[in-house]
Amino acid sequence: MKVRVDTAKCSGHARCAAAAPDLFELDEDGYALPLDGEVPAGQEEDAREGAMSCPEQAITIE
Ligand code: F3S
Repeated sequence: MKVRVDTAKCSGHARCAAAAPDLFELDEDGYALPLDGEVPAGQEEDAREGAMSCPEQAITIE
């Protein structure tokens, strides 16, 4: 599974980090840091929850 954060779409809702703090990190202004790559083993559900939680659809998984 891969996860990607499109920082151009991020509006700083911070719901991804609330849903999955081990996977999604925020910068000092509350915007998601870039993330693009394989989901670490055991964090697949976190990736799904983070993607679903984002109102901007900034997070995609495949
Ligand atoms: Fe940004 Fe969506 Fe997370 S708007 S901070 S990627 S919930």
